[in-house]
Amino acid sequence: MSEIAIEAMTEDQARAELARLAQVLAQANHAYHTLDAPEITDAEYDRLKARNAAIEVRFPTLKRPDSPTEQVGGALAEGFSKVRHEVRMLSLENAFHDEDVAEFADRVRKYLNHQGDLDFTAEPKIDGLSLSLRYEGGRLVQAATRGDGAVGENVTENARTIADLPQNISGAPDVLEVRGEVYMAHEDFAALNERQAARGERTFANPRNAAAGSLRQLDPEVTRSRPLRFFAYAWGALSEPLAATQFGAIERLAALGFVTNPLTRLCSSPGEMLEVYREIEAQRATLGYDIDGVVYKVNDLALQRRLGFRSATPRWAIAHKFPAELAWTRLEAIDIQVGRTGALSPVARLTPVTVGGVVVANATLHNEDYIAGRDSRGQPIREGRDIRVGDWVQVFRAGDVIPKIKEIDLSRRPAESEPFRFPETCPECGSTALREPGDAVHRCTGGLICPAQAVERLKHFVSRAAFDIEGLGAKQIEAFYKDGWIREPADIFTLEARFGSGPRQLRNREGWGPKSAANLFAAIEEKRNIPLNRLIFALGIRHVGESASALLAGHYGTWAAFETAMTHASPGAGPEWEELIAINGVGAVMATSVITTFHQEAERRAIDALVAHLEVQEAPRRGSVESPVAGKTVVFTGTLERMTRAEAKARAEELGAKVAGSVSAKTDILVAGPGAGSKAKKAAELGVEVIDEDAWLALIGAL
Ligand code: IVH
Repeated sequence: MSEIAIEAMTEDQARAELARLAQVLAQANHAYHTLDAPEITDAEYDRLKARNAAIEVRFPTLKRPDSPTEQVGGALAEGFSKVRHEVRMLSLENAFHDEDVAEFADRVRKYLNHQGDLDFTAEPKIDGLSLSLRYEGGRLVQAATRGDGAVGENVTENARTIADLPQNISGAPDVLEVRGEVYMAHEDFAALNERQAARGERTFANPRNAAAGSLRQLDPEVTRSRPLRFFAYAWGALSEPLAATQFGAIERLAALGFVTNPLTRLCSSPGEMLEVYREIEAQRATLGYDIDGVVYKVNDLALQRRLGFRSATPRWAIAHKFPAELAWTRLEAIDIQVGRTGALSPVARLTPVTVGGVVVANATLHNEDYIAGRDSRGQPIREGRDIRVGDWVQVFRAGDVIPKIKEIDLSRRPAESEPFRFPETCPECGSTALREPGDAVHRCTGGLICPAQAVERLKHFVSRAAFDIEGLGAKQIEAFYKDGWIREPADIFTLEARFGSGPRQLRNREGWGPKSAANLFAAIEEKRNIPLNRLIFALGIRHVGESASALLAGHYGTWAAFETAMTHASPGAGPEWEELIAINGVGAVMATSVITTFHQEAERRAIDALVAHLEVQEAPRRGSVESPVAGKTVVFTGTLERMTRAEAKARAEELGAKVAGSVSAKTDILVAGPGAGSKAKKAAELGVEVIDEDAWLALIGAL
């Protein structure tokens, strides 16, 4: 069939051609992604897609609802749209020992000052990936992955292909976000890998990877061809409560048509919780799907609400993990890696071995002492046995962490083996590697002249919780660094100016093309506007992780305020120092590290150069939203009768108040219980408002 030139088309011809292209492209997508049997070449596919887009430009009103332009299938470089979770998706604190369970129950009791019965649910921890499903008026309207907890990926169309998920439900709250785990059963996983292998496609290392890879497919038809399943175990936004208890809420979800885990139990003591743990552990091998522990949750939802959250985990739940799986293999070599803070990390290169379904070829060796068989206090570990190249070692994995070495087998040690000598210079830049007294780690003193440190800092800068630039990952950073295209973060934002046109262009670079280059520039452009917490985290300051960055951002609010404070601060004294360490969660070590970074000339120059390219978003102050106590300084004194100090403090901070230990002119409210002494007196002298516990609860709307 000859094609009509777009400029010469009538409206009718255009409509017919758009219909034809929609059909041809959809079929090509299906053949490519689902059947793995492409019917047209990639070039022809691109040409048809471009033709479709050009017709749409000339006849915008004819654009079809199923326009191929809007479809992600076939465009694997593009990502999913983002979804901001109305209620954050959190993770769980882990416990590894039986004692931790009683300790958890104790902590809950203490926090609540709860004396009577305290029930917990116990259920398997499914090893998959979490998904949040939003139903409005009983219809599934959105499905999102967890992402970083605040923002996930919109995988609605893919989720619709999961048979366990009802598309419509009746009798549910008008707004209902059901949360749970997407996973792949063992038999489905084995069959999928067989199919993949038969077609010469990549196989998956374990069911979890297979589930994640299948859910995060840009073409929903691929997801449909993969047998995913779903267990509901939690919820996000709700227009009305599901039940009064965790157990009741799960029953309600089951009644609404969701699959819930049949091993969910109600327990009334740590002893019973451990019994359920053993029961579930005993069934682990025969369940037909992977689980990696047992999750305990406070049953009473009113208590769950009171317990609330720490920065990333609820106080009312804990994951009791199963012991890690172990395997023996040979240690072939010990390599030294240099991290972004200059730490020299010894890494064990192993003969690859499968541990818990994953092939392990590397394990961390921590530091010099660990290899020598001593802990940080000089006490023997592994009964003082050192680790040598050539040794047989027992490795284990716990969760997603880097594999570790548990044991060595001296009886198989080669006769000629020698103790490992830790290098005294940086293997990357040759600078002296110093081990300071009291520190277990050797650190390269090369600073920014050390290429390894510079590259690792750049990798950190673009990592997921930092700038998260699509198309700029570890691999690309290494290549750009090597060629001198990117040496420090600021260079990322001048990449297009330097390599977008002219004699040396990104599009002509090996592995790049016009489209991927344009995509990268667009992705960089998008990140010029960055949330303050991400920027702080991206700087890679020692001791300042993701949650500390959020604390700092939440406290200072703007980059200007943060930068000014750090510029004027000096470690150990002064008002800026006092303010910094008064932040709940910021200690002296972290504070010193931040201040020192801002005072190092080279560091400071790099930070200023970077920030000149950015628009830094203001951080929402915690709880600033319409709370009557936001921004106020509150002091609690005397006996509180309805809540513990810890709860009162956490609650006030959630609402944006600052809780201080002593009364001063800065205090706005003193909450005084029975037995209040000198603080009440001082407040009266200073004219500070004094209220009792009930008045406080009424003020914050908790009565
Ligand atoms: S409750 C607010 N229950 O484990 C806490 N999580 O390590 C909501 N997971 O992100 C989570 N099985 O993906 C809960 N029965 C279960 C679970 C479970 C698996 C996952 C979930 C979560 C992760 C935390």
